[in-house]
Amino acid sequence: MMDQAEKLRQVINNLKLKQNMSQKEIANNVGKKAAKVITITSGKGGVGKTNITVNLAICLSELGYRVVILDADFGLANVDVLFGIVPKYTLLDMIENRRNIFEVLSDGPKNIKFISGGSGVEALVKLEKDQLDKFVSNIALLDKISDIILIDTGAGLSDTVMSFIMAADEVLLVTTPEPTSITDAYALIKMVSNRDRSKKIKVLVNKAESASEANDILNKLTLVSEKFLSMKLHSVGFLLHDEMVIKAVKLQQPFFLSYPKCHAARQIKEVCKELVDSKGNFLDNEVSGIKGFIKKLVNLMNT
Ligand SMILES: Nc1ncnc2c1ncn2[C@@H]1O[C@H](COP(=O)(O)OP(=O)(O)O)[C@@H](O)[C@H]1O
Ligand SMILES: [Mg+2]
Repeated sequence: MMDQAEKLRQVINNLKLKQNMSQKEIANNVGKKAAKVITITSGKGGVGKTNITVNLAICLSELGYRVVILDADFGLANVDVLFGIVPKYTLLDMIENRRNIFEVLSDGPKNIKFISGGSGVEALVKLEKDQLDKFVSNIALLDKISDIILIDTGAGLSDTVMSFIMAADEVLLVTTPEPTSITDAYALIKMVSNRDRSKKIKVLVNKAESASEANDILNKLTLVSEKFLSMKLHSVGFLLHDEMVIKAVKLQQPFFLSYPKCHAARQIKEVCKELVDSKGNFLDNEVSGIKGFIKKLVNLMNT
C-alpha cells in the first residue's frame, strides 16, 4: 500500500517542471503558492470552448507549464470525449469522500491531468462548513502540482456559470462570428460588468472565415464594451474555421496532436503566447489559486 506522502511524491514527479522551462519561469515558480485559474466560457453553446480548452492545455504543457483541466460543463461534459478517455471517478466522488484527489485526477496526453466535474458543483453548495473546509484543503493540492488550471464551463448566462466567471483569476471568453454568438457574448460581458468592472476578460474569436473578419469582431466588441460598459477587454486572437478540427473531434483526438500543422493548431500557439506573455506575470504570486477559487465560488453560489 502506498501511503499518502508517497502518492504525493509520485504525482509531483509526474508533473514536475519540464527541462525546457526558461530560467525566468523557474525563478517565478520558486515558492509559488497557487495556480492560476482560468475559466473558459461563452454566451452561446457550441462555439468551441472544449476544443480550445483541451488544445490550449496541450500547447501550454509543451511550453513547460503544468496544466490541470477541470471539466465543469455539467450538461455536456466532454473534455473526456475529446481525449477519448473515460475517467474512473468524478469530483463528486471526492466531495462525497469516496475518493481522494489522486483518484479523481485522470491522465490526459502530454502530462495534462483532468478532472471530470460530474454533478460535483451542486453537491459543493450543500456541504456543511467542516466538510467544505476538508474538501478545500484536499483540492488545494492542485495549487502545488500545477501552474495553470483551465476550467471548461457550459455556455454562460446561468447563475452557476456566472459564479465560475466571477471566482476565476481570469476569463477566456469564446465567440464565433455568428451574430447570435456575438450578442450573447456581449450580454455576458454586461452581466460581468454589473458585478465587477475590473474583471480580466480575454476574448477569442473561433471558427472565423478570415483574419479580417475575426479582427473586425474583436475590435467592435472591445469598442462597445469599453464605451457602454466601461469594461476593458483583452483580445487574444482567433482561430479560423478549420476542417481538421472537425476531423480530429471525430477521431476523439486533440487537433494540436493529430494535425499539428493545421491552421487551428498554429493559431492556438499564437493564443497561447498572448496568454502567457501578458507582461510575464502569468506565474505571479498574486493569484488566488484553486483554494481561493473554490471558496469564492461557494460564496457566490450561496448568495
Ligand atoms: N475552429 C474550428 N473550425 C471548425 N470547426 C470547429 C472549430 N472549433 C470547433 N469546431 C466544431 O464545433 C464543435 C463544437 O465545439 P466544442 O469545443 O464542443 O464547443 P463548446 O464546448 O463551446 O460547446 C466541434 O465538435 C467542432 O466540430
Ligand atoms: Mg463544451
